[in-house]
Amino acid sequence: MFFPEFRARRLRRNDAMRRMVRETFLRPEDMIYPMFSAFGKDIKKEIVSMPGIYQQSIEHIVTEAKEVYELGIPAVLLFGIPEEKDALGQDAYSDTGIIQETIKAIKAAVPKLLVITDVCMCEYTDHGHCGVIKDGDVDNDETLKLLAAEALSHARAGADIVAPSDMMDGRVAAIREVLDANGFTDIPVMSYAVKYASAYYGPFREAAESTPQFGDRRSYQMDPANRIEAFREAELDIQECADFLMVKPALAYLDILRDLKERYNLPLVAYNVSGEYSMIKAAAEKDWIDGDRVMMETLIGMKRAGADLIITYHAKEAARLLKQS
Ligand code: PBG
Ligand code: ZN
Repeated sequence: MFFPEFRARRLRRNDAMRRMVRETFLRPEDMIYPMFSAFGKDIKKEIVSMPGIYQQSIEHIVTEAKEVYELGIPAVLLFGIPEEKDALGQDAYSDTGIIQETIKAIKAAVPKLLVITDVCMCEYTDHGHCGVIKDGDVDNDETLKLLAAEALSHARAGADIVAPSDMMDGRVAAIREVLDANGFTDIPVMSYAVKYASAYYGPFREAAESTPQFGDRRSYQMDPANRIEAFREAELDIQECADFLMVKPALAYLDILRDLKERYNLPLVAYNVSGEYSMIKAAAEKDWIDGDRVMMETLIGMKRAGADLIITYHAKEAARLLKQS
C-alpha cells in the first residue's frame, strides 16, 4: 500500500462510508448505571461535584430505575447510604438494611432490570474503611466473613449480581462459597479484580459519604504504577470463579483493559469512575469542551480498549444520544 495509489481518506469521505467501516460500537446494552440509595423519605439531593447524579430515597430510586430500563440500559449498580454507620458496618448485612430494601423495591417495580450490588464495607463503617480495623489497618480475614454475609443478604433480597469492591484477598471465593451453600448457585460475582488506589474516586466519596476517617486505601487497593500485578489479581479472581472481571478506574488504565481482554476470556467491565465524570461535566460547564462529544469519545475509547461493559454515570445521557443517532 503506497501513496498515491492507496489513499486512506477514501473510506472517510462521507457518513455512510465511515459507518460501513466502523470497528467499534457503543450500545445502551453495554452500560451499567450506578445509583446512590439514601435512607429516609423524599430525599433527592444532587451531588455537588457530579451534576445530574443524586443521593435519593427509595421511591425516587424506583422512578429513576424505570427510566433507566426504558432507555434500554440492562442494569443498575447500587450503593447504599445507611441510617447509621458503626465500626462493623452492620447495616451492610442486615436483611432490612438500606440496600436490601432498595433491591426489593426495584425488583418489585421493574423486575426485568438487573440489580447489581456493590459489596464493600466503606459505605457502612463509621471509620470509612472497606473492612474491619485491627491494629490500625483493615484485617483481611475478618473482613471476608462480613463481605460474605453482605453478599448473601443481597442475594436473599433479590440482587441479580454481586460486585465486591473491597480488594480483600480471597473475597471472591468466600462469596462464591456462601452463595452456593445457600442455594444461590446462579448468582454471578462481578469482581472489581483490578482496582487501583485512585484520586479519581474523590467525588464518589462525597456521594457515598465514605471518605476514610484516617489513613488511605493504599494497603488494599493497587499501586497505579503496576501492570503485572493486575494479571496476578485477575488470575486469583478467575481461580476463585469470578464471572466478570473489572478494571477501575478506566480512563487512566486503558492499557490494563486491553491487557486483560487479550489474556482472559471473562466478560470485561470498565468502571468510568466519578472523577472521570466530574472532569467532563466541569469542563463542559465552562464551555471549554463539547461535553456530549467528549463523553461519547471517552466511552467508545473504553470499548475500543477492550471493555465489554462500562459502568458509567453517563449511561442515561449516552443512551439518549444513541437513540437520536
Ligand atoms: C467502594 C467503592 C468506591 C468506588 C466504587 N466502590 C470508592 C473507593 O474505593 O474509595 C468508586 C466509584 C467512583 O469513584 O465512581 N469501595
Ligand atoms: Zn469500599
